[in-house]
Amino acid sequence: MTKAIYPGSFDPVTFGHLDIIERASKVVDHLIVGVLNNSAKHPLFSVEERVVMLQEVTSHLPNVEIQSFGGLLVDFAKQCDASVIVRGLRAITDFEYELQMSQTNRKIAPDIDTIFLTTNLKYAYLSSSIVKEVAMYDGAIDEFVPAAMIPYIREKMKEKVKKY
Ligand code: PNS
Repeated sequence: MTKAIYPGSFDPVTFGHLDIIERASKVVDHLIVGVLNNSAKHPLFSVEERVVMLQEVTSHLPNVEIQSFGGLLVDFAKQCDASVIVRGLRAITDFEYELQMSQTNRKIAPDIDTIFLTTNLKYAYLSSSIVKEVAMYDGAIDEFVPAAMIPYIREKMKEKVKKY
């Protein structure tokens, strides 16, 4: 049985992430979406919120599970008994960072391999940062995130505006 981890910040989850999750779930037996719990990154959504949001958009995928993790990704992979890490590649600009990360992970955990899925061209421009930027100015985000995510994002933006 092939178990894989698809790690990320998912702050918030986008159509690009969901596309990778759906495709990866077809090539492995069990896919764990690992949500990074790292407050140093100052995410907009708490790790608990990101887990709930991901659970909601992946509820149609029976072999997908959502978990949060802190520390090293390879340690989390070992804990989960996963031998594969999945990452999405949007464009050549992603490549250098992804290559460095996969080579580092391979150096510290030679039994865990990283596989890359190229992002669907429809979503090649898309990132969580873009979603937050557009949402902050109340722009339309329905082309970027699943419909169920929109109330979460709007609510969070309202809280942010109130704070400042
Ligand atoms: O969605 P992101 O922010 O591009 O995901 C980055 C992530 C979570 C995959 C990466 O930051 C990570 O693996 N963090 C855990 C710490 C770690 O293992 N670092 C060593 C790899 S170089």
